[in-house]
Amino acid sequence: LLHINDSRLLNTLDELSEIGATSQGGVTRLCLSDDEVEAKRYIIELMKRAGLEVHVDPVANVIGVLNSAAETKLVACGSHVDTVIDGGRYDGSYGVLAAIEALRSFKESEIKLGHPLAAIAFANEEGVRFPAMVGSKYATGLITLKDVFALRGTDGATFEEALTKSKLELESDSFLAKHIPGTYLELHIEQGPVLENEGKQIGIVENIVGTRQIEVGIHGSADHAGTTPMDARKDALLFASKIIQFVNKLSLELGKGSVGTIGFLEVTPNAPNVIPGEVRLIIDFRNSSANIIDLASSKLNEMVKDTANKDRVQISIRQRADLPPADMTDSIASLIQEITDDLGLTWRRMQSGAGHDAMIMRRIADTGMIFVPSKRGKSHSPMEETAGDDLIHGANVLANTLMKISK
Ligand code: GLV
Ligand code: MN
Ligand code: MN
Repeated sequence: LLHINDSRLLNTLDELSEIGATSQGGVTRLCLSDDEVEAKRYIIELMKRAGLEVHVDPVANVIGVLNSAAETKLVACGSHVDTVIDGGRYDGSYGVLAAIEALRSFKESEIKLGHPLAAIAFANEEGVRFPAMVGSKYATGLITLKDVFALRGTDGATFEEALTKSKLELESDSFLAKHIPGTYLELHIEQGPVLENEGKQIGIVENIVGTRQIEVGIHGSADHAGTTPMDARKDALLFASKIIQFVNKLSLELGKGSVGTIGFLEVTPNAPNVIPGEVRLIIDFRNSSANIIDLASSKLNEMVKDTANKDRVQISIRQRADLPPADMTDSIASLIQEITDDLGLTWRRMQSGAGHDAMIMRRIADTGMIFVPSKRGKSHSPMEETAGDDLIHGANVLANTLMKISK
């Protein structure tokens, strides 16, 4: 069994977490922000130091390849280096750095491999600035370059404008479209409390829940807060508050693991003495069943249309993102389980409630995910934490699984 270089992995995690570090102890690296671009440059340099052949594709997926001369199917692994606002140090970064470390260890140990391998930092996984999973969707042909370029961020910039501003040197062809991975592995922190509560070291993901995001624009009327009688108002935020309550109640009623969140709200003009004229909000529904997500969406549509009339506001509603639930590949899960046993680590099978590039890569490749425990289940928060030993265990499971697949 192979052991990766423990201190090198932990050092690179420390170094990367300094890029975009916040005063809260977290990290903010929104897709193609200056800090995220700096993180990509750090990854490119690290890949070069590891002796990998580096490709940056047209949407800024960063790909480091080992053993590129082999003519067999590409074995890929990775995650993302963009983060949410004030997110944690490990979400995404851990999977990318462990992937590079695994390939670096293969090279140093001069292990004979029958397949080419790639460590990937996918572009825009989180979907805070732009809708989620742009990089893996482009890599798998689910979205065209033209459609990626036209995506508009919450700040108004298009993806194309953000790419140009980044000054990253992009290749004109999609490396992953030319070298389609036969396998994709993603190592990630759990981001929930299950492994810690059960005292297990490794989670083997069986399925990833689906996510649908719906953007609602509410158009009322901005009027004077002192002079406009209560019955003459068109208050967009008041209407938004009804949607927020409805989504919470609906998710509780639907049960079966349903969750519904409104985490993005933009109020215009956002002034204490003006009735809110415009509100934009994004609803995030998740479930392991596509039917339940459909049901939640249609109930929301109904509620919005019925209530808007009564409240005298106008509504625009559109789907921002739709990521169907995905089952991981059985044979890959079994292999991860075998390797975990060989390493003498404890494991459990589980579901992922967070989205990952793996749910997209599953469309084209045999795919598996490895989880390690998150302290107190905290994630998408500066409080995100995983013990060093757990980080190393996960990286060793990844490296040995990759090695077995690539023999
Ligand atoms: C990504 O972390 C997501 O699950 O939204
Ligand atoms: Mn992630
Ligand atoms: Mn995340």
